[in-house]
Amino acid sequence: MAEVVDLRSDTVTRPSAAMREAMANAEVGDDVYGEDPTVNALEARVAALFGHEAALFTPTGSMANQIAVQLLVPPGDELLCDADAHVVTYEIGAAAAIGGISTRTWSPVGGDVDPDVVAAMVRPEGYHAVATRAIAVEQTHNRGGGAVIPLSTLDSLRELADRAGVGLHCDGARIWHAHVADGVPLDRYGRLFDTVSVCLSKGLGAPVGSLVVSSRERIERARVLRKRMGGGMRQVGVLAAAGDYALTHHIGRLADDHVRAGRLAEALAPFGIVDAARAVTNMVPLDFTKSTVDAPGFGAAARERGVLVSVLGPRVGRLVTHLDLDDAGVDRAIEVLTGLLSG
Ligand SMILES: Cc1ncc(COP(=O)(O)O)c(C=O)c1O
Repeated sequence: MAEVVDLRSDTVTRPSAAMREAMANAEVGDDVYGEDPTVNALEARVAALFGHEAALFTPTGSMANQIAVQLLVPPGDELLCDADAHVVTYEIGAAAAIGGISTRTWSPVGGDVDPDVVAAMVRPEGYHAVATRAIAVEQTHNRGGGAVIPLSTLDSLRELADRAGVGLHCDGARIWHAHVADGVPLDRYGRLFDTVSVCLSKGLGAPVGSLVVSSRERIERARVLRKRMGGGMRQVGVLAAAGDYALTHHIGRLADDHVRAGRLAEALAPFGIVDAARAVTNMVPLDFTKSTVDAPGFGAAARERGVLVSVLGPRVGRLVTHLDLDDAGVDRAIEVLTGLLSG
């Protein structure tokens, strides 16, 4: 039987032989003592990439996000974000459970943000209402189908945050894709935010690893928060080396993932479940609202034929391209998925 084509997520990639070699050769030390040279070098590299003073390596993007929001929002105060944001959808209530943080959300608009809507939500510090302390955005937007928030919108949000005296966080798990798709330098993005979380384990193909990027003062506090959450790690340079390798070798090639997502989108668009214009990075949102097929049925039939897709709801699905998917895999997926929709 042909190999399975896995389009569920870009988190399914396996480290390449060259990445494993870099991991095996990593110099290591005890990172809780701040003595792992490979981690220290990765943190300095990523901080510089985003135009910030410091960064902190974390095991997951969820931990990086939660540390960042705790840096910006004290217990009892409020974070504003999109109702589809990862930070409130997929992090198991951590902002409330761990940070004591209140969250209030705006209605998702396909991954984009309307700064006027956000501005109207900000509540000033005071005795009566919960005070807004930070706004979070997601670049690119996972549940928004890999959408890229335009730079002009982010500039407006920065102005709004400054006017309101609140922090601005970016969940940049896939900010690399936005950088490649829109050509915006990473440090141009980075300087807009008080905190940025970035992931090495999604499109960049490392097995593990994320970072929080911010000022030196905040990252010192972040180190304490990470330890409190059980994220103080020891000879973790073996993992940081994978991330370092990914930064060197796997950013430019994301353009290939975007082209492959575009090919999938164009092949499926005639069946009315894809708006090809929305596939701008490595995701293809599937919308079955106007189809006689439903997402779980489609997902199950595709699986039987060796193609794995994400089912996000009764009428919503998603395809994701990544490092372990080549053109032959895309051809196979197109053959299987269009066959199902024609049948
Ligand atoms: C946008 C976004 N942020 C954060 C995360 C969390 O990453 P992790 O799975 O490493 O906790 C993900 C995971 O897919 C994500 O898509």
